[in-house]
Amino acid sequence: DYPESVALVDVGPRDGLQNEKQPIAAADKIALVHRLQAAGLKRVEVTSFVSPKWVPQMADNTEVMAGIDRQPGVAYSVLTPNMKGYEAALPSRPDEIVVFGAASEAFSQRNINCSIEESIERFRPVVEAAQAAGIHVRGAISCALGCPYEGEVAPSRVARVAGLMKDIGVQHVGVADTIGTGTPLKTQRALEAAFKHYAVREVSGHFHDTYGQALSNTLAALELGVWQFDTSVAGLGGCPYAKGATGNVATEDVVYLLHGMGIETGIDLEALADTGAWISGVLGRQTQSRVGRALLAR
Ligand code: HMG
Ligand code: MG
Repeated sequence: DYPESVALVDVGPRDGLQNEKQPIAAADKIALVHRLQAAGLKRVEVTSFVSPKWVPQMADNTEVMAGIDRQPGVAYSVLTPNMKGYEAALPSRPDEIVVFGAASEAFSQRNINCSIEESIERFRPVVEAAQAAGIHVRGAISCALGCPYEGEVAPSRVARVAGLMKDIGVQHVGVADTIGTGTPLKTQRALEAAFKHYAVREVSGHFHDTYGQALSNTLAALELGVWQFDTSVAGLGGCPYAKGATGNVATEDVVYLLHGMGIETGIDLEALADTGAWISGVLGRQTQSRVGRALLAR
């Protein structure tokens, strides 16, 4: 049975914008968050507290967090890879922090400059501090369906990282297809690897759409009962340390799929599509969402 309702985290302000080379005003990032919450999103991944030398586009993290007119019932997440990031994030009062590791050693090195085991040691005090402060902790497992440097990634490697994250108290894991090479059955194997350590309600899918597989992979995840997904309005995004990787699956496309299946999201698709068209305009391009384009053309 498919879930009756699905919760989406719009990661557009973070995953979507982090890789943009052109300057984007903090006011536009704040407006994007406002539009997403007005469209009914209950979870938004706003920014990351990472090195501004590595990811200059997220250097305005504190300003963006401070500018958001927070709505009750909406959770705002930020990425914190280490204690330095966590301490910088804390005054912004995130509802959730995200530690991000990888199922591949090479990607861990390129993305966060340390091995998988070292990353867990960096996350450990972050998770402890967040839990003491009552902040929910999500973990991202990058390259769960393939690595730009190592190629195929076995489900056992996803299980290993999920187990390491569980051991340090990470409450939820996102199985991430960083470069979008995954296909439905592989997606199910990777999710099942995460289920070795986490309940279905503690696992989400984070699928980039580089190879056009993300909607199919979403359906494959729904078949296993997964009901939480990271998506990005207008299909914004890409990871700076995964060459050629395009954006996450578009929120509009996932909402259309879900509503068509009678699955609730609480999201107003028209308002969401308007938001996708607006932010794409800010970036000077067309929306990457197929549903967004179809709705615009009507
Ligand atoms: P490092 O060099 O190992 O860290 O970087 P370090 O502790 O040795 O510090 C080196 C310098 O960075 C020092 O500054 C620190 O102060 C500074 P310096 O003395 O040279 O001036 N520094 C920081 N500054 C600000 N915030 C911090 C911070 N930490 C250290 N938190 C680090 C480690 C993780 C910081 C670095 O590698 C980094 O910033 N990487 C960028 C990672 C990133 O943002 N990647 C993209 C997001 S992940 C993603 O997109 C995947 C995901 O979507 C899932 C998927 O699709 O797969 C989540
Ligand atoms: Mg991502």
